[in-house]
Amino acid sequence: MKICCIGAGYVGGPTMAMIAHQCHDITVTVVDVNETRIAAWNSDTLPIHEPGLDDIVKGRRGQNLFFDTNVDKAILEGDIIFICVGTPTKTFGVGAGRAADLRYIETCARRIASIATTDKIIVEKSTIPVRTANSIKRILKAGNAQASFEVLSNPEFLAEGTAIEDLTEPDRVLIGGECDDSVEKLASIYARWIPRERVLTTNLWSSELSKLTANAFLAQRISSINAISALCEATNAEVDEVAHAIGTDSRIGPKFLKASVGFGGSCFQKDILNLVYLCEHYGLQEVADYWEQVVKMNDYQKRRFYERIVGTMFNTVSSKTIAIWGFAFKKDTDDTRESAAIAVCQNLLGEQAQLNIFDPQVSKERIFEDLGSIANDDNVHICQSAEEAASGAHAIAILTEWDTFAEQDFAKIYDYMPKPAFFFDGRNISDLEKLREIGFEAYGVGQGRPPAV
Ligand code: NAD
Ligand code: UDX
Repeated sequence: MKICCIGAGYVGGPTMAMIAHQCHDITVTVVDVNETRIAAWNSDTLPIHEPGLDDIVKGRRGQNLFFDTNVDKAILEGDIIFICVGTPTKTFGVGAGRAADLRYIETCARRIASIATTDKIIVEKSTIPVRTANSIKRILKAGNAQASFEVLSNPEFLAEGTAIEDLTEPDRVLIGGECDDSVEKLASIYARWIPRERVLTTNLWSSELSKLTANAFLAQRISSINAISALCEATNAEVDEVAHAIGTDSRIGPKFLKASVGFGGSCFQKDILNLVYLCEHYGLQEVADYWEQVVKMNDYQKRRFYERIVGTMFNTVSSKTIAIWGFAFKKDTDDTRESAAIAVCQNLLGEQAQLNIFDPQVSKERIFEDLGSIANDDNVHICQSAEEAASGAHAIAILTEWDTFAEQDFAKIYDYMPKPAFFFDGRNISDLEKLREIGFEAYGVGQGRPPAV
């Protein structure tokens, strides 16, 4: 059997590497129009940072796992074609700022329709609005009459930073489709390493909608606890204690209740806005408003964090240096898409602060590109360590929960900083009491105020 995957990104690369790793008899070719990305997949330095990924890719590459730019050849040869291209939020025209931009999906469908000469199973792995399979089917049907196509929905639930773990032992795999044989063919691939009862099958539309719904529910939990974090700060309750207290109720559960500077990543905001757009499209304004509030609360949380820094530092950070620890949207990834760090840093630069930024995985080029024209070599300095970033800084702000940020020599760092030395932990990974004993004026998210000095 031959598998072709169109799109060698954060989903296509790891997912296909896992299939190749688990099924040595299946030839998996991942194709992309981005030549630099494909070259990186074929090099010693993979284009994405993901724990455990290197070993899996390097173990199968050149044997049954291939990365290539020849999209047409892979389509021609593939029995199963996964579509793993991006579905970003539309930035123009009808639905701008909300609807999914489906141009890459459509390009793939048109290419398959014009190239394929044999029957194929087309798998939507990208996250798409419910009923997209209908559009794909229509495009495929209007193309080459020699081949017939079955379209399946198989959304991906992996999270970045834990992709290999998630792919090795997923809570479930979801396959939606109308043709039992095709569904079974795909299910039998996953069943090579995933217990059969965890491979769920549904109709196409339920599968498509389940992906948007899962992300909306996860993000909603974060916005809910972040909303409570604002109340904790006003009342001196501790949000992590509240989260623990409610999370031990088995009906609520402990996961995704970590208050933070705000969720980021390429999925949550985009998928919720897409859900909002769909609801509006179907005339369900109240439902749309309900879900949109999750994104609004997240924007509020990011704004609140930056305003707290400015307010605490005597209402001005102009010409003050702030050490930014972490720029990725979460730990163990180099991905910065929609990272809360972007908005917080841009706002601080708008207040004329100087930023010393350190992230263990994010490149200088990426940081400058994300911050845009407000950043320059005079107001943003990229550092090689957390300690270097803090040296001479008036405040430290943790924006990504990298483990190393909780393991610093804080007494030494304190000595390097002008006083009062401020500490703002946007991820609640530090021992604030210890920091206060050293002398820091330390704040966490939803952790009330430090005792008056
Ligand atoms: P990505 O931007 O990292 O990768 C997409 C790749 O597709 C790019 O490299 C791009 O060059 C390529 N591409 C676009 N059009 C192409 C074409 N016509 N032919 C060949 N290649 C083409 O995106 P991603 O993060 O991997 O996400 C892909 C999809 O999976 C999205 O729909 C996303 O919502 C969904 N998803 C992402 C995650 C995640 O954690 N990133 C998790 C679950 C689902
Ligand atoms: C998410 C979904 O978890 C995954 O199932 C889906 O396939 C893609 O979208 P991802 O965005 O990679 O995955 O990471 P996730 O772990 O969900 O974190 C998203 C954001 O929420 C990060 O910024 C993270 O720091 C934040 N977060 C997460 C919190 O602030 N608090 C939490 O309790 C959990």
